[in-house]
Amino acid sequence: MNSRDRFLSALACQPLDRPPLWVMRQAGRYLPEYRALKARSSFVHMVQTPALAAEVTLQPLHRFPGLDAAILFSDILVIPEALGQSYAFRDGGGIEMASKIATRADIDALNPVAAVTDKLAYVSDTLKLLKKELGDTKTLLGFGGSPWTLATYMVEGGSSDDFEHIKLLFYTDRATFDALLEKLTDALIIYFQMQIVAGADAIQIFDSWGGLIAGPDYEAASLKWIRRIIAALPADFPIILYAKGTAPHLTDQAFSGVRAISVDWTNDLAIVRRTLPANVAVQGNLDPVLMQTTPEIVAREATRLLDSMRGTAGHIFNLGHGITPQARIECMQALVDTVTTWK
Ligand code: CP3
Repeated sequence: MNSRDRFLSALACQPLDRPPLWVMRQAGRYLPEYRALKARSSFVHMVQTPALAAEVTLQPLHRFPGLDAAILFSDILVIPEALGQSYAFRDGGGIEMASKIATRADIDALNPVAAVTDKLAYVSDTLKLLKKELGDTKTLLGFGGSPWTLATYMVEGGSSDDFEHIKLLFYTDRATFDALLEKLTDALIIYFQMQIVAGADAIQIFDSWGGLIAGPDYEAASLKWIRRIIAALPADFPIILYAKGTAPHLTDQAFSGVRAISVDWTNDLAIVRRTLPANVAVQGNLDPVLMQTTPEIVAREATRLLDSMRGTAGHIFNLGHGITPQARIECMQALVDTVTTWK
């Protein structure tokens, strides 16, 4: 069975001898070949240049041919950027946006249709290059941020510890909050439609900061908008939802129209599998810190997770969040070897 068939079967919750494997931030600073390219071009330049973005996307697959999916090399922040807020990385880590969304007038001025169609054609070009290269052998994953997660960067002006401004907006001026989320939802619908046309086999929505809003407000702040995006896309197209720190909401997420839920490492994946509807796949969920230990520890923990899922259908193996820059190549190799040879 080839990688793409394995992946699509897992998404369809069909029984398999072993789960397909990929990791979030699959291309990234833990790979010397990525660091070598980045020494010559900026991150944004690599993202915006289809030949370079495609090359970076494929780097992990060249090094680890056992991986079953390629994820587009890009960033969730290309949407705010196309809407007029460029981003940069802070020296000490984290994101700095060039400006902040502060007023209703700032939001009314955003033009989602023009932003995506005029400014993000390079994403479509990159996906087409990748589809041509991969054909039907590997799964090609597109992605984007959730409206809530993107709104946090746009209103906070970058990474934040407390998410104070976006929460204040949510609690004090719901109409303005909704206006922003609606613009982002519109942008993401067109953006994902573009990715589907360009050849993506599935799309992952990153609601990375969904766990930061108060539990009873998760629906109004985040899940409602995700549901709206999924409803606007072709009914049979698979969407994977990743959200960190949202364990109390897994069931609601499973009924949002997604094909798979990607869960963070704090969950016991076997319990999640037993709890969620059998037609929704689960993805995850090793703690990314394990990739900084030793190959023996990675093999032990990956086997423990695989064994805990034995006999279940609908599992895509992944980490519970993105691989870190400190991850060791030997550990990634041990993960690929363990998952692909597991019996
Ligand atoms: O998974 C993949 O391999 C696809 C590429 C991808 C990147 N970012 C590349 C990247 C994906 C899917 C993302 C998503 C993303 N970007 C998210 C959601 C996923 C998550 O991890 O929760 C978020 C919150 C962002 C915003 C962002 N971009 C952050 C917080 C950072 C790290 C900044 C820092 O100081 O470490 C980035 C940078 C980034 N995006 C890198 C990569 C490979 C590292 C860039 C570098 O230094 O070379």
